[in-house]
Amino acid sequence: MDGRVTLRSHLKQSTAHIPHGAAVGAVIEAIAAAAIELAALIADGPLAGVTGQDGGINSDGDRQKDIDIVADEMMRHALRGAPVAAVLSEEAALPETFRPEAYLCVAIDPLDGSANLENNISMGTIFSIRPRGNDILSTFFEPGTAQCAAGFIVYGPQTTLVLALNARVDIFILDRRALEFLLIRQAVQIACDTPEFAINASNRRHWHGPVRAYIDECLAGTSGGGEADFNMRWIGSLVAESLRILARGGVFLYPADARPSYREGRLRLLYEAHPMALVMEWAGGAASTGRRRILELGAKTPHQRVPLIMGSVRGVRDIAAIHERTQPMFDNNDAPLFARRGLFR
Ligand code: F6P
Ligand code: MN
Repeated sequence: MDGRVTLRSHLKQSTAHIPHGAAVGAVIEAIAAAAIELAALIADGPLAGVTGQDGGINSDGDRQKDIDIVADEMMRHALRGAPVAAVLSEEAALPETFRPEAYLCVAIDPLDGSANLENNISMGTIFSIRPRGNDILSTFFEPGTAQCAAGFIVYGPQTTLVLALNARVDIFILDRRALEFLLIRQAVQIACDTPEFAINASNRRHWHGPVRAYIDECLAGTSGGGEADFNMRWIGSLVAESLRILARGGVFLYPADARPSYREGRLRLLYEAHPMALVMEWAGGAASTGRRRILELGAKTPHQRVPLIMGSVRGVRDIAAIHERTQPMFDNNDAPLFARRGLFR
C-alpha cells in the first residue's frame, strides 16, 4: 500500500451505509470513466478532430459545439451501462429512459463552458444523482434536496473531480499515468468570509437593484466605508469558478436580469444550480437565488433556468439581506423602484 486513496476505494467506503449505495457508486464510477476519456479528447482538441466550432443547435435553442455533441454521447454511453433509470442531459429536450426499474436518475451537463475549448480554458462535466420516484419525469421535478450525490469534473491544467457524497465534499485528481482518480482533499470546507466576487460585469446595465447595490459596495471597498477591499475573478466557466470557491472562498453570481431571456437567470436548475448548490452546502457554503435556497426549488420544466448566487456563507447571506430589504416588483423582476440601501450601512 502506498497510502493513495483511489476513487474506487473511496466510493466503496463512502457508499457502504447510504441507500442504494452500490448503485450510487457505480454511477459515479461510470461518469468518472467517461470523464477520463473526455479529458484526453479535450487535451488533444484539434489534434483529435474537435475544434470547439459550432455543431448545431440543441433542443433548447442553444448553440452546440462539436465537442458538446461528443461529450454528450460519451456520458450517455457510460450511463447506459450503469444502474440508471433515466438521464436528463443539457443536450436533449427530454429525459431518456435507460432501465426503468433502476433506482437512480441522473441530470447531467456533459460539457459546461465548451465555448472555452478554443481558448484552452477550463471546462467541465456537472452531474446530479437522485433516487427515482414513482414516475421518472416527476423525479426530475423534485426539489434539489432529493439529490443523493452530485459533483463536477474540471478539464483544466489538471483533471479534477469534485464529489458531494455522504454530506461531505472530497476532491480527486486524475493520475494520467494510472488513469484513475486519486483523493487529494477530504471534507473540504469553504471559507466563511472571503472578499472575492465573480460576476459577468458586462451585464451591469441589466441587473436588478439588489445585485447592483452589492457589487457597487464590493467595488467601493473600504474607501466607500465597507469592511473589506474586494478582488474580482470571472472565468466564464461555472466549474472553474466553483472549484476556485472551494479552494479559497468568495461568491459567484449569475443573477436574473431585465432582459426577457434572463428573467429567470442564465444557468439551468437541474444540471447546473442543483448540483453546485449541493456541493456548496455540503462544503459549508451556501447557494441562493437571492431570495430562496436553491436546494428547496423544484423545476417545472427540464431545462428551467434559475438565478444562482453561491459560495462563502457570509457573502451569500449579505446578498440575500439586500434582497430582503427590497420588494420584488414582479414575480421575478425586482428592478425598477429599488430603494438603494447599502450593505455596510
Ligand atoms: O453553461 C453556462 C456557462 O458556460 C457557464 O459555465 C458560465 O458561468 C456562463 O455560461 C457564462 O456565460 P456568459 O459568458 O454568457 O456570461
Ligand atoms: Mn452548462
